[in-house]
Amino acid sequence: MPSRSERPQVAVLISGAGSLLRTLIEASQDGRLAVELVGVGADRVASGLIWAERAGLPNFVLPLTDATDRAEWDRVLTRRVAQWEPDLVVSAGFMRLFGPAFLARFAGRCLNTHPSLLPSFPGRGAVRQALAAGVKLTGCTVFQVDAGVDTGPIVAQAGVPVRPGDDEATLHERIKIEERQLLVDVIREWPFGRRGDYD
Ligand code: GAR
Repeated sequence: MPSRSERPQVAVLISGAGSLLRTLIEASQDGRLAVELVGVGADRVASGLIWAERAGLPNFVLPLTDATDRAEWDRVLTRRVAQWEPDLVVSAGFMRLFGPAFLARFAGRCLNTHPSLLPSFPGRGAVRQALAAGVKLTGCTVFQVDAGVDTGPIVAQAGVPVRPGDDEATLHERIKIEERQLLVDVIREWPFGRRGDYD
């Protein structure tokens, strides 16, 4: 395994409970992932920041409110993440669209994860949408971020059957179990070898 300083550098963005972040932290500590997590950003005081704090990871909160200048927020977000010089940015439950500055800076090295089998049920409420549609199989998707809403190139997917009696919470929890594993698998296979090609 490469030494810590040689490991690919990964930044994570969150908005919520951060169970995906927690999995990435654990995986980078127990040897499942040979990456170094370099920092965590959030668009609100997300409860998941506790995992960053406990792991001693640098972190920031950059709120986006109705009063925020969105272009400026995008530029500051880009700067704050870029300061860590990540090889990969993982949007792990970060419930914001990226703007042009962020997309230009991190094109091709930003992954997102979504709790449906895209292109079905993009956007907010993906689990609720799947239940309302009556599908018997849903799941999760890891994809590359582009300017659209969950439209980027799909990297990997995992299916999760909908069980009779499922509600949004029970189904989302089962999806997240698969999602955590899928994200770890994708990052493990990510072609980091091209470090330096982008800057
Ligand atoms: C995950 O299911 C992720 O796919 C979803 O938020 C959850 C985050 O869980 N993201 C989206 O819906 C983005 N469109 P976590 O906060 O426990 O890691």
